[in-house]
Amino acid sequence: MPYSKISQVAHYLPEQVVSNQALADILDTNDEWISSRTGIKNRRISQNQSTSDLASQVALQLLEKSGMKAETIDFIIVATISADSIMPSVAAKVQATIGATNAFAFDLTAACSGFVFALAMADKLISSGAYCNGLVIGAETLSKSLDWTDRSTAVLFGDGAGGVLLESSEQKHILAESLNTDGSRGSSLTSGQNSLNSPFSEKSDSDPFIHMDGRAIFDFAIRDVSKNIKQLIEDSGLEKDGIDYFLLHQANQRILDKMARKIACPREKFLENMMDYGNTSAASIPILLSESVAKGSILLDGSQVVLFSGFGGGLTWGSLIVKI
Ligand code: ACO
Repeated sequence: MPYSKISQVAHYLPEQVVSNQALADILDTNDEWISSRTGIKNRRISQNQSTSDLASQVALQLLEKSGMKAETIDFIIVATISADSIMPSVAAKVQATIGATNAFAFDLTAACSGFVFALAMADKLISSGAYCNGLVIGAETLSKSLDWTDRSTAVLFGDGAGGVLLESSEQKHILAESLNTDGSRGSSLTSGQNSLNSPFSEKSDSDPFIHMDGRAIFDFAIRDVSKNIKQLIEDSGLEKDGIDYFLLHQANQRILDKMARKIACPREKFLENMMDYGNTSAASIPILLSESVAKGSILLDGSQVVLFSGFGGGLTWGSLIVKI
């Protein structure tokens, strides 16, 4: 049976940097509040590129780094909650832009867990033996889903994209996985509410913006996600020390501080970049991964073990332990 492995990584960020001070100029907020509550200092905000533009830049880099021809790609999955349009999907636009004429392509919507869910699905496609490789990309322009008059959400998010080339391998690289959803708690984090609008329907509300019960999400991350990670490590048979790095969804520094304590692993092993990019939802883990490879902390030579964990809207949460 074939397995899958991450063979290349890439990320792409829009050029425009928006600082906390720039937000304080348009909202009743300040750098001290944002930094101390979240750890975020800057975020990138797209001026003229949509989610598919960011995702396509990642896909092109992955092709260039791997030396693969676009026609040899079997599938493209884009995890996103900020697609340019529902139809065509972001993934279909990426497929056209890079000329991956033999690939099937689709978007996956699982909010901040999107990249982890997509990677797990891609692993199954390759492990089935039916496909040899695929691009798995997390890409967001959350700036378009924000109510820029709402200081409680506008300061938290940013735009960006990251992704990986997944290829078949004779060795097992995805060592353990746990994917979870609790739809009964979905109302604590919402966006893109569509209304019924036919002449035969009752009127219902539509609301494009992100809304969040910050406290509920904070508690969910600390309680449910920490428990999930601890359990996964235990079930995998690995020692905690055997995990070289934790690449968790980049929502908030205080969440990472508390999770590190709950999981009882050294805080330095929890990589972070939310200070530079804010919360980029499905893009946050692959951007962090690609940056960590560029910085040399992750070697991408099969000698390290990392734990990915995404958590957010749905509610969804999922973790993978990966030899990388
Ligand atoms: N600037 C200044 N003051 C603010 C701001 C702001 N940007 N936003 C809220 N406030 C005020 C509130 O109005 C409130 O004022 P009040 O006491 O006069 O009413 C006060 O600050 C405290 O507000 P809280 O919402 O209670 O602040 P809290 O300490 O809970 O921090 C935060 C809010 C940072 C969102 C926190 O709840 C949190 O970290 N939650 C996790 C959620 C998260 O990170 N979500 C990201 C998306 S979800 C995901 O990716 C998983």
